[in-house]
Amino acid sequence: MTGVPLRVLGIETSCDETAAAVVDDGRDTLSSVVASQADLHARFGGVVPEIASRAHVELINDVIAQALVEAGVALGDLDAIAATHGPGLAGALLVGVSAAKALALVTGAPYVGVNHHEAHMYAAMLDDPALEPPMCTLVASGGHTLLVAMDGHGSYRVLGQTVDDAAGEAFDKVARFLGLGYPGGPAIDRVALEGDPTAIPFPRPMLADGLDFSFSGLKTAVVNYVRRNPDAEVADIAASFQAAVVDVLVTKLLRAAQETGMTTVVIGGGVAANSALRTRLLDEADAAGLRVVVPPLALCTDNAAMIAAVAAYRLRADGPTPLDSGATPNLRLA
Ligand code: KG4
Ligand code: ZN
Repeated sequence: MTGVPLRVLGIETSCDETAAAVVDDGRDTLSSVVASQADLHARFGGVVPEIASRAHVELINDVIAQALVEAGVALGDLDAIAATHGPGLAGALLVGVSAAKALALVTGAPYVGVNHHEAHMYAAMLDDPALEPPMCTLVASGGHTLLVAMDGHGSYRVLGQTVDDAAGEAFDKVARFLGLGYPGGPAIDRVALEGDPTAIPFPRPMLADGLDFSFSGLKTAVVNYVRRNPDAEVADIAASFQAAVVDVLVTKLLRAAQETGMTTVVIGGGVAANSALRTRLLDEADAAGLRVVVPPLALCTDNAAMIAAVAAYRLRADGPTPLDSGATPNLRLA
């Protein structure tokens, strides 16, 4: 990035993590604090929106204060205050957006509303500060599965997306069905380490067609298999299900790179924390001669450093977001 460095406080409250971070110029993370509410939601088997909003309200001030202290930065040192303004849970988003706007009013620094998907794409740039578009990005989270050609900063083409369940949603639903608890992705990842990924040939939905995804039929295939084979090993089911998801995600990301002619591939979102996905992508992208960036786990799952990273670019390109703008639960990327 050129010009005077921008020091940004990022705030993330779109789902069940309350997070704040200070990042210089979109690349240099001074602090990143994440307070997970997973324990509060676990007994309900998924995120309860009302509980999430209330927990964000209770946590947000302390999380922001901790991010500033860890960065060694005072409020007056900030050049911008950013928050996720969509997509996400309406009540949860409003907590972060309101906090960011209040701080912007108090400090006089500009407010920047950030798209959560765009932030997941920028997480890779915090891991590899030399990384620049063009690049092909897979964002796979609890709510979305998106394949995006990033032609430049702020310039995106959605090449493919899920036609039903998101990849993370499939992990969560299958884990719940198998009695592995919430959140399901990490639970399946753990159990799968003990299983045989080739034990059960689950379907690879839409593997041969295009760049869209479908995971609902795969989830049903797991349910039907377990009903027919009640004594099957849970570890084998988890490993075989995970292998099917990973197969589809990696195949389509590499196909997207081939079709666009892009030579860099990047992953982001909670599902990018999956160990089988990371290993397989590193192997295959390497074999295909592609540059691949697989960010560390803490940058894949929800965090505020990625929000602050995007904000530096959006502020320079588009200016501040008006203080009378709200949150958009179904905000789109492009
Ligand atoms: O990006 P994220 O933290 O929040 C959203 O924006 O949704 O993604 C959360 C999703 C959940 O569905 C969770 O089960 C999944 O990411 N996830 C994983 C793993 N860690 C988190 N899925 C597969 N393997 C993992 N290791
Ligand atoms: Zn996310």
